[in-house]
Amino acid sequence: MSANNLTVHSFHITHADRTTQNGHNTVVAWLTGLSGAGKSTLADAVSRHLYAAGVRHYILDGDNTRTGLCANLGFSAADRTENIRRVAQTSQLMCDAGLVVIVSLISPTIADRNMAKEIIGDDSFLEIFVSCQLSECIQRDPKGLYKKALTGEITHFTGIDSPYEVPQNPDLILHTDTQTVDASSGHLFDLIIRRIQKV
Ligand code: ADX
Repeated sequence: MSANNLTVHSFHITHADRTTQNGHNTVVAWLTGLSGAGKSTLADAVSRHLYAAGVRHYILDGDNTRTGLCANLGFSAADRTENIRRVAQTSQLMCDAGLVVIVSLISPTIADRNMAKEIIGDDSFLEIFVSCQLSECIQRDPKGLYKKALTGEITHFTGIDSPYEVPQNPDLILHTDTQTVDASSGHLFDLIIRRIQKV
């Protein structure tokens, strides 16, 4: 049930004031891809570059947000949609607060990523496809989850018995099965810096 009788308040200090104070604009870099594709690794690497460059930012990573903000959600289609909605709303608030946000979520469907883009706003949303062959993700299996999914110990696992829809027109594709972490994170850092230009 949603609430009625609300009046949105406009505060004196605005997004523009905060970005001026920070010396840069904001953007949400939304990393989508299979589990094990390297989203968190890239988020971590680009965060280190941003920190060194004095860019105020934050990482919203699925495994982390699912321990708090989204702790009551599982992996059904409806729960994933709600997971993505909450993270998108949080990203929008962080952006308004003046931060660059790096989101690292499987976010497997085009519809859910479009919802995120709508919440965050077209101008502030970069869709980054972290591309890696499923066979390579299965080989890497950093959390041992593909093994469990392939033996049926866990169900609704993305790429095994739950679909992943490849982005149709992403702002950037990073091929983690052929590029180094340094190269991929460098491309992402360059794109973010171009978008947030010092103000
Ligand atoms: S999303 O589909 O709703 O965007 P999210 O990125 O938050 O997923 O969470 C994915 C992480 O949860 C994976 O990296 C993995 O560690 C863990 N996980 C546990 N069960 C599943 C599952 N059934 N499918 C995908 N990831 C799972």
